[in-house]
Amino acid sequence: AGCTGSEGSETQGPENSGVTETPVYVVGVDGEYPPYSYIQKDGSITGLDVESIQWIAEQKGFEVTIQPMAWDGIIPALQQGKIDMVYSGMTITPERQEQVNFSIPYLTINQSFAVHDDSSVTMDDIMAGKVVIGAQRGTTGAFWVEENLIANGTMPKENLKLYDSFPLVITDLQNQRIDASVYDRPPHMKAIEGKPLHIVGEIYTGEEYGVAIRKEDTGLLITVNEGLAELMASPKWQELLTKYEMD
Ligand code: ARG
Repeated sequence: AGCTGSEGSETQGPENSGVTETPVYVVGVDGEYPPYSYIQKDGSITGLDVESIQWIAEQKGFEVTIQPMAWDGIIPALQQGKIDMVYSGMTITPERQEQVNFSIPYLTINQSFAVHDDSSVTMDDIMAGKVVIGAQRGTTGAFWVEENLIANGTMPKENLKLYDSFPLVITDLQNQRIDASVYDRPPHMKAIEGKPLHIVGEIYTGEEYGVAIRKEDTGLLITVNEGLAELMASPKWQELLTKYEMD
């Protein structure tokens, strides 16, 4: 079939039939990931990343559907076309870059470890591989432990417990079924808020967050990069960082 659109037709959403409709992109997020993407009491989804893409969409003239889904498997879902981008505090890594493209970076974060307030576990114990660590499956926190503690034999692999969502890690830490949790620092701080848990140390990984987009969707990548650059240059960005306690 002939393409009636302009050269940038790949920026059209999958629902677009070729007529000049507003493209609709499905944005995959983890729905239990404050402050970036989380479901509020009224059932609606918000967060720094959700508000960012909503602002970008408005500026660039497209619409978004926010799709909460399991984190582990979110890249396959993108590749299979179930979603059009992942905008949910995803670290840009060389392994992921083999599978998908990333936007320009929009935040830099570090990993952190948390323990129970009643626990005497130190960063030294953690680094010596002596304690049971909980992590969300498929996250850079889990990869860090695998690469830096398990791969070199410092820690037995049974000492790493993987969970499908981070709230499950926190529940087990609170009940002292695990000794420590590892996660990106900002969402880790959010997750322990009001609980008898505290951050015991940080690992300065300096990870950069980016929006993941299918390799072939080069038009969408350009649009999102433009939108991100506009967002970060606008007062809206500082407003969002303050609102979500990122500074
Ligand atoms: N930044 C880390 C990563 O990319 C953690 C991401 C967790 N994201 C989420 N939506 N649960 O692996």
